[in-house]
Amino acid sequence: MNNQDIINEIRRKNDIVDIIGEKIPLEKRGKNYFGVCPFHDDTNPSMSVSREKQIYTCFSCHATGNVFNFLMDYEHKDFSEVLSDLAKRVGITLNGVSTKKINSKYEDWYNIYDLCVKYYQNNLYSKEGEIARNYLKKRCISDDVIREFQIGYSLKDRDSLTKLLTMKGYSFDLLNKVGITTNDYDIYHSRLMFPLHDLSGKVIGFSGRIITDSKQNKYLNTKETELFKKGNLLYHYHIAKDAARVKKSVIIMEGFMDIIRASTIDVRNTVATMGTALTREHIKEIKRLSNNIILCFDGDEAGVKATISAGELFASENIETKVIVLKDGDDPDTYILKNGKDAFVSLINNAIYFSDFKIKNLSNNRNFNSSEEKANYIHEVLEEASKIDDEIRVEIILKDLAKKFEIGYNTLEKSFKELVNIKRVKKEEFIIPKTASKVKKDKYQKASYSVIYYMLNKQEIIDRVEEEHLVFPTGALRALESEIVYFYHKYGFINEADFYTYLTPKVELVNLLTEVLQMDLDNVLTETELFDYFKVIREYNYKKTIENLERKIKNEIDPVMQIKYAEEIRKLRIGEN
Ligand code: GTP
Ligand code: MN
Repeated sequence: MNNQDIINEIRRKNDIVDIIGEKIPLEKRGKNYFGVCPFHDDTNPSMSVSREKQIYTCFSCHATGNVFNFLMDYEHKDFSEVLSDLAKRVGITLNGVSTKKINSKYEDWYNIYDLCVKYYQNNLYSKEGEIARNYLKKRCISDDVIREFQIGYSLKDRDSLTKLLTMKGYSFDLLNKVGITTNDYDIYHSRLMFPLHDLSGKVIGFSGRIITDSKQNKYLNTKETELFKKGNLLYHYHIAKDAARVKKSVIIMEGFMDIIRASTIDVRNTVATMGTALTREHIKEIKRLSNNIILCFDGDEAGVKATISAGELFASENIETKVIVLKDGDDPDTYILKNGKDAFVSLINNAIYFSDFKIKNLSNNRNFNSSEEKANYIHEVLEEASKIDDEIRVEIILKDLAKKFEIGYNTLEKSFKELVNIKRVKKEEFIIPKTASKVKKDKYQKASYSVIYYMLNKQEIIDRVEEEHLVFPTGALRALESEIVYFYHKYGFINEADFYTYLTPKVELVNLLTEVLQMDLDNVLTETELFDYFKVIREYNYKKTIENLERKIKNEIDPVMQIKYAEEIRKLRIGEN
């Protein structure tokens, strides 16, 4: 048996309904099982698990996949860990099965990064590294911390790392591609080197910090590569995932020095972006760690701004974060250095709600000299309060407001209720068209998705697509189709669940596959239906080709060529009829 066969057998022997059923209560309804989705904040059973297809799908957050994907996300493990857990469960020995297979394309990349980590660490303890060791000492970073975070140092010379790696057989091409060299020379010189890990803990890049006064950028990150994307990387996530489960919360900080410092006082449920604003992708990953999210940014104006935009982004995903406010001039790093563990832990325990933070912030730099200014402020506070779910907290806010400005509580409450009503009506108007437009697909998309859907469910459709040389409308669909064809020919069969395992490293295609599978089409496909789908897809290609030719005619100045294009269009039209 080859690797993929063993992987598939492990998947087949671990029934998805049993495995998910051990983690969350499932209830049978019709063919499928339903439970509360653990991947977003919910109380409704929006996750469906299919015994027949061996996949799960959440109708609300669109999480989906097979038993491997479920456990990887639920237990924050990587593929190989989950695979060996499941193998043990059903008594299969994994002797010699390389679970790296799934990422084999990047095996060289990972090896290169691991070599770099070791190389930079060695440099730190070399003679030239003395200046860096002194810098770390000055910043109170102990040897234990250096080891834990694998901090290293890059040398001043031009290309010692490049030489080492090329001697090991890696090509300049690859080294440039993985972001370790540029134009065949080392990228990093005389910087403290911090390895960056992906969500599962593999090194996928570096950030280098200058240690002398210099006009250069303070930090230099690896360029974006196929593995390193700032928009979804969170520093320290691979450590935070376990800590967050124990502490039942996750703390977001701005810089990785903050995170490193916090770990010295045993606060490890922390993550940071790479100096960029939070994205929705970050939020999705953070939500998987905990719903209790604490923002602890720098105490300066930029930190307050970042807190507000991060809090708002979470709020738009229905999560009210908590906030730790530091004094201007402090960041978590300096605060902990000055005040120690107990003081910081008490800050965590006394974190305030984001809405309270915003309300407090609203009164900053304001004088309430005129009735207009007071009223403006009161309206802004009511607006904030209207976003809070907890009636008791709302009442406390209104009472404080009434007292502060000496107005009747009833007046405030009346305004507040009016505001809530207006917002509710607006929200309902907004939601209906939005969900409607989301399901609506044009006929070409519908036909393409249907054919892909049936390729996965009825193997004879794969043959038909190949025999009739069907060309799908978009590059993404064509890529998904060729993956299906590849899988099918390589293994001689195909099903949704195994195909998921295979596709997992290709995030964009997995998303597309998810959309396709959400169609949940009828099991029976008639020849007429299939014929119609093919026809629609061909019609799309035909229309596009003619449009292209017409555009060419318009842009062409040579009349001979124009005639040639017109002739092509004519032939196409005849062929079609
Ligand atoms: P120290 O100054 O060493 O204490 O680091 P810090 O982590 O406190 O950094 P700071 O608060 O200044 O910045 C927060 C984060 O923004 C850093 O951890 C980096 O990820 C990022 N950052 C800061 N400066 C730069 C820069 O010059 N270039 C890039 N690419 N990122 C930066
Ligand atoms: Mn700092």
